Amino acid sequence: MYRPLFFWPLARGFNMMMSQTRIGFTVSIAALMLTLSPGISLAADGAELYKTKTCFTCHGKDGNTPIMPSYPKIAGQNKEYTLQQLIDIKSGARSNGQSAAMKGVMHLVNEEEMQALAEYIATMAP
Ligand code: HEC
Repeated sequence: MYRPLFFWPLARGFNMMMSQTRIGFTVSIAALMLTLSPGISLAADGAELYKTKTCFTCHGKDGNTPIMPSYPKIAGQNKEYTLQQLIDIKSGARSNGQSAAMKGVMHLVNEEEMQALAEYIATMAP
C-alpha cells in the first residue's frame, strides 16, 4: 500500500537523470558537428555577418561593386590579408580619411567575427 509513495521520488529521480543524459547527449552531438565542420560553419557565418554587420552597404553584395569608386573591391582577397586589414582598421593602426568611414561600423564585430568575414570574403568571386 505504501509502495507507490515510496517509489515515487525514486522514479522522479530516475526520470530527471534520464532527461539530463538526453541533454548531455544533444549537446555533445552539437559540439561534434561544430568540430567536424569548422570551414563550412565559418563561411556560412561570414555570409550572414557580411549582411547583418552592414559590410555590403559600402562594398556591394558581391564584394565587387562598392558604392563609391574610391571604396575598395574586396571579393576574393586572401583571408590573411583581409583579417589583418579588419584588425588594423578597427584598432586605428590603419587610419586615413577613407578608413574613417569604415571604422564607424567596426565596433559591431569582434575578432572571431572578423575571422569568419575574412574567410567568407576569400570565397567570393573576384
Ligand atoms: C561606411 C562604408 C563601409 C562599411 C560599412 C564597411 N566598409 Fe570596409 N572599407 C570602406 C572603405 C572606405 C575602405 C578603405 C579604407 C582605407 O582606405 O583605409 C574599406 C576597406 C576595407 C577592407 C580593406 C580592403 C583592402 O584592399 O585593403 C576590407 C577587407 C573591408 N573594408 C571589409 C569590410 C567588412 C568585412 C565590413 C563589414 C564589417 C566593412 N568593410 C564595412 C568602407 C566601408
